Amino acid sequence: MSTPDREIRTTLPVARQQAIYVGGLAGQQPKVPVHPARLEQAAAARLTPEAYAYIAGGAGREDTMRNNLTAFDRWRIQPRMLRNVAQRDTGVELFGRRLPSPFLLCPIGVLELAHEQADLAVARAAAAEDIPMIFSSQASRSMEDCAAQMGAAPRWFQLYWSKSDALVRSFVSRAEANGCEAIVVTLDTTLLGWRTRDLDAAHLPFLHGRGIAQYTSDPVFMAALDEPLDADSQAARPPLNLNTLRSVLQAARRFPEGTLHSLSNGRALAAVRRFIATYSRPSLTWDDLSFLREITDLPIVLKGILCAEDARLAVSHGVDGIIVSNHGGRQVDGAVATLEQLPGIVDAVDQRLPVIMDSGIRGGADMFKALALGATAVGLGRPYCYGLALAGEDGVREVIANFKADFDLTMALSGCTRVADISRECLVEQ
Ligand code: GLV
Repeated sequence: MSTPDREIRTTLPVARQQAIYVGGLAGQQPKVPVHPARLEQAAAARLTPEAYAYIAGGAGREDTMRNNLTAFDRWRIQPRMLRNVAQRDTGVELFGRRLPSPFLLCPIGVLELAHEQADLAVARAAAAEDIPMIFSSQASRSMEDCAAQMGAAPRWFQLYWSKSDALVRSFVSRAEANGCEAIVVTLDTTLLGWRTRDLDAAHLPFLHGRGIAQYTSDPVFMAALDEPLDADSQAARPPLNLNTLRSVLQAARRFPEGTLHSLSNGRALAAVRRFIATYSRPSLTWDDLSFLREITDLPIVLKGILCAEDARLAVSHGVDGIIVSNHGGRQVDGAVATLEQLPGIVDAVDQRLPVIMDSGIRGGADMFKALALGATAVGLGRPYCYGLALAGEDGVREVIANFKADFDLTMALSGCTRVADISRECLVEQ
């Protein structure tokens, strides 16, 4: 006999399909396109050219971005028949939490480029769908404001390890106070990649005071605003003209102390310049991880691992999880695709840690393939940002609901009833 709870779960993807098809009878279209390419196209038409460039772009010729997508072609799903897939469970457990579907929302910075509600809309959508949101260090809204929208729903915090230990400590303790259940250290962005679209547009959002809300809401960061900057940061002053003045005004408007106050005492600009001077620490090494271990008991997850040897080092340094990621192809052009590297990393880790994979997940089949190759869960990036651009919180919810339904159907139609059934035997290598 099936439990009522299981019956509900079984009907979920069908309900999602029905809602869309029945809506069609009444002349309604989904709020966001379901097909991944059309989702991106629709968002591109809605976003400003600079915003679209920042969100969609990658490093250099964008080979890594392309490789991330084409790597999925090497594996084909081999569906099995007559296996009674009427009742299914798409849930997985991660750090003591049961997730309804094996994915998380990866951190994306500067979400105000996509929608005025930015991280708040994503926080509400993630909470409503019970999918963990990873708060970005480069968020447009503070973690306090986001957490206030989420009740007890799961959230993690992504840490860009800044040059200031005091700031790292402050970010981590705020993450703890705001109910974050893991700290995700992004390893691959100690320097910003060569982003050709942004360079051609001469546009970096942080210089406009965007995407620095975690900093301007931080007592340690704000207390350091009046301290002198190093010579390099002093030198990077733009020429003064009407455009510069407009940008200064915009940055001041976003500043928590208010436009007039921050304009008159120059603190909004000081915040932008201090952020640029301190946000990352290129000198970071494996030895620094012990500092993080000392200051928090939360699980530490390393994001940006791309080879088996680094995965082994992660295990030997006592971290709690890794994310196989190349930052959506935004950092090193011509780099290995994450799906390509996943099997070797999974073998190296040998079940000692959960292995999450991101960069290139565009649908349920991609999720299925990553899980079949040993991922515990996957991370979703640009697609939810496109949903945000198109319809705010509702758009993010629709994208999440589509991924849940697509994955559930792919699992069922492949002959699996639980995530644990998804193995390498489900795939054929081309
Ligand atoms: C920041 O994390 C970025 O990828 O732009």
